[in-house]
Amino acid sequence: MSFTTIEPNAPVRLYRSKLFVPGSRTALFEKAAASAADVVCLDLEDAVAPSDKDAARDNIVAALHDVDWGGKTVTVRINGLDTSFCYRDVIALVEKGGERLDAIMIPKVGCAADVYAVDMLMTQAGDFVGRKKRIGLEVIVETVLGLTNIDEIAGSSKRLESLHFGSADYAASQRMRTTNIGGGNADYVMLTDTAPGRARDRHWNDLWHYPLFKMVQAARAHGLMAIDGPFGDYGDADGFRAQAMRTAILGCEGKWAIHPSQVALANEIFTPPEKEVERAEAILAAMKDAQGKGLGAVALKGVLIDAASIRQADAIVRQMAMIRERTKA
Ligand code: COA
Ligand code: MG
Repeated sequence: MSFTTIEPNAPVRLYRSKLFVPGSRTALFEKAAASAADVVCLDLEDAVAPSDKDAARDNIVAALHDVDWGGKTVTVRINGLDTSFCYRDVIALVEKGGERLDAIMIPKVGCAADVYAVDMLMTQAGDFVGRKKRIGLEVIVETVLGLTNIDEIAGSSKRLESLHFGSADYAASQRMRTTNIGGGNADYVMLTDTAPGRARDRHWNDLWHYPLFKMVQAARAHGLMAIDGPFGDYGDADGFRAQAMRTAILGCEGKWAIHPSQVALANEIFTPPEKEVERAEAILAAMKDAQGKGLGAVALKGVLIDAASIRQADAIVRQMAMIRERTKA
């Protein structure tokens, strides 16, 4: 390890699925609260029309007090810093939102100063009303500026808990020639070389690999959670699963659900498979035994395990303990 260690910047939260609910659709609030999502996000930004912004803000402030959100993490997505709604969102939530709010999500963050500005407003408003609980911050990386400045953003505030990747706005910002939200594009392919007598294969590539990889890397380097954003075609469960599985393998802890049907899919994919948990538990037991005998590296079922295996296994076992705690009857 380096002499520089990475400390978690955030409280430990279970974050397999984050269900979005437009702040203007109050009939959905109780349904979201009763859902199996680990996290709920009440939205003030793109799911709310400009003419509804004030009413949606009032709805959300009321719901933070009135709805029983159970053990969920409750977050609110505010409007971006380039709008005239942003400061009003922050002040209303912090001054009037009560103590149930866990985190504020900032969209389209471009540089560390964006986070600094919101943090400053939150701190002033929180001190003014004598808030007891710390409200966290979450950032959506969904512009080329945000991705370019991702390291300084990831280290920008003690309140910061997670980075999220938003594919639709990111694609627009980079002027990518695609309109799908997450998932594949049939034209983003490699053709295998020509070979006599053989048809050429088309290999689909992952449009989102580079920004997601970069985001997970920056998040982890700063002790933050990394969360994959939306998958727009909510009728395509297989497409969602495939996208979620790729990002789970890359290191994301969860994924947004933009429709309730995606909650169970995200919970399924971001719960470590039983076999993986069993192996992780076996690794920890074997390494404990090995350490007792003064050994550093041993074999488990013909595969090398050592101190790095303990760190990998420990992360899986701790994640599973949180899931068991959340889902116990
Ligand atoms: N949270 C909780 N419940 C929801 C929900 C949500 N986000 N979206 C739909 N539901 C409920 C519906 O009320 C309906 O309930 P019912 O069976 O009791 O009648 C059920 O789930 C099925 O809904 P459906 O008719 O398929 O969806 P819809 O046409 O009402 O809405 C969307 C579809 C996509 C517009 C809606 O899911 C939505 O607004 N999602 C969030 C969008 C968002 O916030 N985007 C911003 C982030 S990208
Ligand atoms: Mg967006």
